[in-house]
Amino acid sequence: MTDVGEVQGAAPPAPTTAGGTGRVDSARVGPLRVGIVGGGFMGRVHTNAARAAGAQVVAVASSSADSAARAAEALGIGTAHASVAELIADPGIDVVHVCTPNVTHAALAGAALAAGKHVVCEKPLATSSAEALALVEAASRAGLVAAVPFVYRFHPMVREARARIAEGSIGRVLSVRGSYLQDWLLDAGDIDWRVDSSAGGPSRAFADIGSHLVDLLEFVLGDTLARVSSVTSTVHESRGGSVVDTEDEAAVVFETRGGAIGTLFVSQVAPGRKNRLVLDVAGTAESVEFSQEEPETIWIGRRHGSEVVARDTEALRPDAARLSIVPAGHPLGYVDAFTAFVRDVYAAIDGSAPEGLPTFADGLRAVRVTEAVLASAHDRAWHSVA
Ligand SMILES: NC(=O)c1ccc[n+]([C@@H]2O[C@H](COP(=O)([O-])OP(=O)(O)OC[C@H]3O[C@@H](n4cnc5c(N)ncnc54)[C@H](O)[C@@H]3O)[C@@H](O)[C@H]2O)c1
Repeated sequence: MTDVGEVQGAAPPAPTTAGGTGRVDSARVGPLRVGIVGGGFMGRVHTNAARAAGAQVVAVASSSADSAARAAEALGIGTAHASVAELIADPGIDVVHVCTPNVTHAALAGAALAAGKHVVCEKPLATSSAEALALVEAASRAGLVAAVPFVYRFHPMVREARARIAEGSIGRVLSVRGSYLQDWLLDAGDIDWRVDSSAGGPSRAFADIGSHLVDLLEFVLGDTLARVSSVTSTVHESRGGSVVDTEDEAAVVFETRGGAIGTLFVSQVAPGRKNRLVLDVAGTAESVEFSQEEPETIWIGRRHGSEVVARDTEALRPDAARLSIVPAGHPLGYVDAFTAFVRDVYAAIDGSAPEGLPTFADGLRAVRVTEAVLASAHDRAWHSVA
């Protein structure tokens, strides 16, 4: 199926130095030196964000020496390593960004940590909670920064919604509706490595975009999902001549530990929807809604006098104002949010503690929810989230 041929086996490269090479400390002089693993869509996004955040992107590795060379040329990166093992062993790299298909994440991120590198690893952090937990423990033992790009946290208006909920202005949270809709896998002829569980993992739509939704929900609410009941649907039995073993859609009913109830709906077969991530929270006094496709506003619902609140740095809560880096009227979007995420990762590497940095622990949370959603869809029973 598709370009699964591009997904090379991700046997963990043997680290050359345990906990040593490339370790950054406060004595570092000059910009952080970044190595990118994976030369596809996210390899480009990470490269651009790393540069915008002031780092030097020094090397890239991908599924083969040839594909690394192509990526190096396309992205203007000086060194194309012949293998990921070679990049991870490179003493001239401080932080490794893992931008490869899902099943490779655990081995590659684990090897980078073992070699003493800080790591940014794409979501889903791993394709099982056991692997994700091992990564959380490895990062903690090594004392390295280990972050997952849950990038929607970095829209200023998400921080504004979060601050309003934390300060209680919407009242007690009663209910939440979250959805993330796309259409790029609508037709039976639409194929991608994510469709095949051997490259994408046992969950497709939920792990791919539901993980963003879960993270955003828990981040904005300051609450966690306790129990889920779900159904999934696979619309096309086969794609590109191969049997499909991952879901196109997932519908979830949930309860939070804080006592709210809600629903999540995730689909990659919703015509006309591109990246329609919407989070709609109802409290006892107000509602608040954020939509990723219109990230410069939030809607505040009231029984009387609902309003659309636009980003206005002077009027934002401090954490939202911090991320509001251009004057209102110059729209901020996904690319800016990604740069803000990477800037905060690098600030953490340099010893700061930026508010709301998504770490491997948050990556683990999303994997655990994904497992509970799949388990519930399988046996049609409620499942607790570990
Ligand atoms: N945070 C976000 O907003 C966001 C958005 C899109 C994708 N993602 C995640 O980013 C990851 C990559 O997605 P993408 O859209 O860039 O995919 P892609 O197919 O465009 O690129 C994947 C790249 O990895 C390379 N590759 C495959 N196997 C490899 C291996 N074993 N070692 C080294 N390189 C290997 C491929 O050659 C390709 O260059 C996925 O895990 C996806 O879930 C995150």
